[in-house]
Amino acid sequence: MATAPEGIYHGDALTLMGEIPDGSIDLIVTDPPFAIDFRAQRGNYNRTGSRVIEGYREIPEAEYAAFTKAWVREACRILRDSGSMYLFSGWNNLKDILNAVDDAGFITINHLIWKYQFGVFTRRKYVTSHYHILFVVKDRTRYTFNKVEHYPEDVWVINREYWTGRKKTPTKLPMELVRKILRFSSNPGDLILDPFLGSGTVAVASKEMGRRYLGFEIVEDYIQFAKERLDQIA
Ligand SMILES: C[S@@+](CC[C@H](N)C(=O)[O-])C[C@H]1O[C@@H](n2cnc3c(N)ncnc32)[C@H](O)[C@@H]1O
Repeated sequence: MATAPEGIYHGDALTLMGEIPDGSIDLIVTDPPFAIDFRAQRGNYNRTGSRVIEGYREIPEAEYAAFTKAWVREACRILRDSGSMYLFSGWNNLKDILNAVDDAGFITINHLIWKYQFGVFTRRKYVTSHYHILFVVKDRTRYTFNKVEHYPEDVWVINREYWTGRKKTPTKLPMELVRKILRFSSNPGDLILDPFLGSGTVAVASKEMGRRYLGFEIVEDYIQFAKERLDQIA
C-alpha cells in the first residue's frame, strides 16, 4: 500500500489531503478555523497584539458547513480503519462539525470539554472559556486507547500557555493538551496529521514524543514559525 508523506507543508488543507493515500494516517488532531471572524491582531488571549503574527485565515460563515463537510470526508478516507480523530470546535459552529462527522460515517466515542482561561471579556453575556473536542473513530471495535490514567474524565482543565516576549500565532494550543491526546490515542512511530497546523503544536508534540508527523497550513509565515519550533527539537 502507498505510504503518506511526512513533514509540514504550505498550502490548502483540502487540496493537500487529496494527495494522501487511503487509510495511511493513524491519528488526526486538529483545530480548524472556526468561522467567527477572528482577528489575528486583536489582542484576544494574547495580550500583546504587536507580537502576534498576522495573516490568520478564516472561513466565511456561509461557506463553513460545506468547507467542514469536505475536509472531514477526506479525513475519514485517509485514516486507517483503526485510526481516530480529535476535532476541536468552539460552540458557534458546532452544529456544522457534528453534521460533518455523522455525514462522513465517523463514530463518536467521546465529546470532551476543554476548559481554559483567558476568555474574551464580556458585559452582557458569560465569558466563553471552553472548547468542544470530539473524539471520533472509524471502527468502534479497534481503535487505540492507552488507558494511561485510571479514571480519565471527559472535562479537561488545561491552561493556555504564556508566551511572554516571544512572537506567536493567535490560537496556539497548549502543549500539555496535545501531549495528553497523543499519550491516550497513539503509540511511538504512528503517523499524526494536523491539516490546520497554525503554529505547529501538534507536529512539535508528535516529534517530541517519537511519533511521525504531517501538517498543512495556508499561511506561509505560520509554516516558517512551525519549522523554527520543530528545529529546536533534537
Ligand atoms: C485554529 S488555528 C490552528 C492552531 C494550531 N492548533 C496551533 O496550535 O497553533 C487554524 C489554522 O488553520 C489555518 N487555515 C485556514 N484555512 C486553511 C486551509 N484552507 N488550509 C490550511 N490551513 C488553513 C489558519 O491560518 C490557522 O492557522
